[in-house]
Formats: sequence, structure tokens, C-alpha cells
Amino acid sequence: MKPVKVAVLGATGMVGQRFISLLEGHPYFRLTDLAASERSAGKRYGDAASWYLSEPMPEGIRESVVKAMDPGGIDADIVFSALPSSVARDVEPLFAREGFVVASNASAYRKEPDVPLLIPEVNPEHLGLIEVQKRNRGWDGCIITNPNCTTIVLALSLKPLYDAFGIKRLHVVSMQALSGAGYSGVPSMAIIDNVIPYIGGEEEKVESEPLKILGKLQEGVVKNADFTVSASCNRVQTSDGHLESVFIDLAEPASPEDVEDLFRRFKGEPQKLGLPTAPDPPIIVRGEPDRPQPRFDRMAGGGMAITVGRIRRDSIFDIKYSVLGHNTIRGAAGASILNAELFVEKGL
Ligand SMILES: NC(=O)c1ccc[n+]([C@@H]2O[C@H](COP(=O)([O-])OP(=O)(O)OC[C@H]3O[C@@H](n4cnc5c(N)ncnc54)[C@H](OP(=O)(O)O)[C@@H]3O)[C@@H](O)[C@H]2O)c1
Repeated sequence: MKPVKVAVLGATGMVGQRFISLLEGHPYFRLTDLAASERSAGKRYGDAASWYLSEPMPEGIRESVVKAMDPGGIDADIVFSALPSSVARDVEPLFAREGFVVASNASAYRKEPDVPLLIPEVNPEHLGLIEVQKRNRGWDGCIITNPNCTTIVLALSLKPLYDAFGIKRLHVVSMQALSGAGYSGVPSMAIIDNVIPYIGGEEEKVESEPLKILGKLQEGVVKNADFTVSASCNRVQTSDGHLESVFIDLAEPASPEDVEDLFRRFKGEPQKLGLPTAPDPPIIVRGEPDRPQPRFDRMAGGGMAITVGRIRRDSIFDIKYSVLGHNTIRGAAGASILNAELFVEKGL
């Protein structure tokens, strides 16, 4: 396959840096441009960004000149967007209109009825919305979104349960890493020796996005899944990796052993297609009583697998378990790259 040219919008931020790191040596994609705000445009990347990843900055990136958010100046077919939502709302359509495929991390377009909110293992058929989107909006390109980082981890774990037993309702309590708030998101004096039981806008996303993701696409419209999600989101002082406690009522009876068996056997379309970024297996089950843990389990499957554990009966709900995923890899940059791989592999 001829390499597809890709660019990163918001390349200097937490998620932007993950994109740069994950795209190094990618078999489908060649990184050709980096763009960020007016504050960074025109500067060498090495001067504009403080590199925060433990992996070294890939060769050649330091000297690249950061571009402005102008589709005319970007040489790529796919743009990965790691922009703040308020900026993405105006910028992403400019690129889609000009024929770029925008694979976005931002929440700006996730709820739009003609925009796929995609997890390739869960709802690959929702790529069918692209045709509807192009027709509705008259764009040559399109916008594909990935869910919020907490939602991706949750929804991937729900998929096998939803298909096998149905879901009546669930409650999720999240313990979310600092990188989820961006590089300058949470001041150190606010979080040292502390847990903050509030993340603005997060609970609404976690309560609504799974219903669209697990919804059925019929005649160009996604009919949302009809269960209820209650979320309680907390910021904790881990660097990467969101841990979630899930309490769930299923529509049909199931034992913890049934649930564990489903998690272990689950595979999705990316695994069947052998997509480069697809973890295999996508769900890892740990039997130890004290796993998953962010420090030990976030890099499972290169940061793309989720890890579940502590699957057991609950005294109020049917079943409870813990699930963990890397928020800037599976929950952000890696998720967008997997979306783009599916898009390319399907010849779209
Ligand atoms: N962090 C996570 O775990 C995570 C997970 C899922 C989704 N997301 C979403 O991903 C997006 C990026 O998050 P992040 O954590 O990487 O944020 P971040 O660290 O604050 O980075 C933001 C990026 O956007 C650029 N930017 C800011 N204002 C701009 C403007 N007015 N015009 C053009 N570019 C602008 C910044 O460039 P400068 O450096 O030049 O300012 C920077 O490159 C957000 O929508 C976030 O909600 C994040």
C-alpha cells in the first residue's frame, strides 16, 4: 500500500504528542505536517512543545516547523485532531470541507447524528454514517470521532455483555489520570495529596456516549441503546491510565464466570482484519484480587488493550468489575489511529 499522508492538529499537546509517537514507523501512515495554535505556528516543534512522554521524540520532529490551522497549508489526506473542543468546532469542518478525513478526539461533533462515534471493535458498521454526512453537509471529506477516554474503556468492556445478555442499567465510578486534563490541566497544588471528585462535563459524556456507540445503525440513523448509565468521575494523581469500577444489571441472568468467559473470548473487527494498532486480545482478564492497576496494566497491548479484573457478584447490582485503559493511547491518539486504519482498510 502507498503510505497515506497524515497530519496532526494540536500537535504540541498531550494527545498530539501521543499521535507523533504512535505514528512513528506506522505501516499505513506517513506524518507530513504538524499544526498548533498561533502561539506555536512558525516555530520549530522542539521550541514550541515541552515533550512530556517517556519515549524519546521521534527523529526529525524537533526541527519540523509547526504550521497554522489552515487547510491550504497542510499536505495530508487524513488529519488527526487533538484540538480543544471549542477550537475543533470551528476548525474541523474547514478541513472536512476541503476533502480531508478528520479523525477527531474532540467532543465537538461526537453527538451529531451524522458523525460516527467509533470504537472499531464495538461499532465498525457506524462508518456507514460517513455517506450520510457527506450527503447532508456537501463535504468532500468527513469527520469521524472517537469517544471520551473514560467512555472508550467502559464501552469496550460493555460490548460483549450487551451482545450476549443485554444491559438494563449500570453505574460507573472513575479514577482518572492527570494526563486526561491536558498538559496544564490540573495545577500540582490542587492534586498533590488529593482526589478531586469533579471533572467538568465528564459525567454527561460517560452517561450519553455509550448509548450512541452501542446503538444500531438503521437506514442512515443510529437508534441509541436503551439502558441507563450513572457516572461519578474523579481526578486522582496517577499520570496515565483511567481505572473504573462498574456495577451492572444485565437483562438476562449471568454468573461472574459467564462474564469472565465472554471477556476472554471477545474479538472485534480490527482483530479479524489484523489492523496494525489492534491489540489482540482487546480485553485482558487478570485473576489477581488487586488488579488492574494503572502503573502495571496501562501499557497492556501497547496501551491499546483494556484490562478487567475483580469480576464478582454485587449485593445491589447483578455483577461488578474493575476496568482500566490508557487514556491518551486507547482513550485518545491510539483510538483515532485505529479508526483511521479501519477507514483505510475498508477502502473508504
Ligand atoms: N488527554 C486525554 O486523555 C484525552 C483523551 C481523550 C480526548 N481528549 C481530547 O483531545 C483534545 C486534546 O487534548 P489534550 O489533552 O492534548 O490538550 P492540550 O494538552 O491542552 O493540547 C491542546 C492542543 O491544541 C492546540 N490549541 C489550543 N488552542 C488552540 C487554538 N485556538 N487554535 C489552534 N490550536 C490550539 C495547542 O497548541 P499550543 O501548544 O500552540 O497552544 C495544543 O497543541 C481535547 O479535545 C481533549 O478533550 C483528551
